[in-house]
Amino acid sequence: MFNIEVEHLTKDYGSGRGVFDVSFSVGKGEVFGFLGPNGAGKSTTIRHLMGFSKPQSGSTRIFGKETFERYNEILGNVGYIPGEIALPAGLTGWEFIRMMQNLQKCKNDKRLDELLTLFDLNPEGETKRMSLGVKRKLAVVTAFMSDPEVLILDEPTSGLDPVMQEVFVEFIKNEKERGKTILLSSHIFSEVDATCDRIAIIKDGKIVSDFVADDLKHATRKRYELDFSDLASCEKFVGEAQKSNILKIVERGENNSKITVETEDKYINGVIEMLSAYPVRGFGHKKETLEDYFMSYYKEDKEFGGALQ
Ligand SMILES: Nc1ncnc2c1ncn2[C@@H]1O[C@H](COP(=O)(O)OP(=O)(O)OP(=O)(O)O)[C@@H](O)[C@H]1O
Ligand SMILES: [Mg+2]
Repeated sequence: MFNIEVEHLTKDYGSGRGVFDVSFSVGKGEVFGFLGPNGAGKSTTIRHLMGFSKPQSGSTRIFGKETFERYNEILGNVGYIPGEIALPAGLTGWEFIRMMQNLQKCKNDKRLDELLTLFDLNPEGETKRMSLGVKRKLAVVTAFMSDPEVLILDEPTSGLDPVMQEVFVEFIKNEKERGKTILLSSHIFSEVDATCDRIAIIKDGKIVSDFVADDLKHATRKRYELDFSDLASCEKFVGEAQKSNILKIVERGENNSKITVETEDKYINGVIEMLSAYPVRGFGHKKETLEDYFMSYYKEDKEFGGALQ
């Protein structure tokens, strides 16, 4: 059984906004990355998953229970970090922690101390005077202090400094080792790359790609940067490449003799053969990172966005 399930979730806010037929599931011990540009529908999906809104159609379940209907049964074992942190007014950090311990019906002060030390957080003082990063640390500590099985994290590191982001990534890896089920929405590629087993990309409210993180590292379609000795040779090669069905030109330098081509592993010998008729100065493999892959969606460049499908 999957600990987290989103099935055909739809919430139409009108004018093309909302989420449409979103489905994914996250198993025990798995970290699932949820990526997408601003306004794509990440927080909307997550709010439904947390049981704050009733799905217009489709369903959201945690531990197999519908989250909107059975919110009270699930909540005690789910940690949540909201995308926008709004702490109740007039409380100190300590008061907020005690309030959350009461709501969670769990007071594990040993775990709390460990988290305060790990994230270097002093919860004294009023929450309204805390800096953005300190508020975020408070949200991280309160989400994890009851040691819940499932964690729903909506951009958990936004506002944290690079050192704290690194601490967070190591912490998530450790929580995964401990068998936690984690949904992580993020704009930070390195943190998704370092922690996630599977990744979904959402755009305009729809999931446009859902893949195993390691597949990206082992993709059979690769890019190479070619540098020709002179411009005329480069242009001639581009002409030949445009007619060829074993490679595609994906980038072309302006006024220089460099191009980037994309090909499948099985065609690489053919590409080398084609190239052997040209004077070439350089030939290098360009590793496609998660960032490149994501950016192809970000920039509305659908042509290469589906590279892994
Ligand atoms: N309550 C609402 N009423 C109307 N429209 C809404 C509501 N909530 C969200 N939207 C719209 O739905 C779309 C998705 O918003 P959402 O907050 O889920 O995006 P997001 O992926 O979390 O973006 P970001 O990366 O900026 O946090 C946006 O166009 C937003 O304006
Ligand atoms: Mg959001």
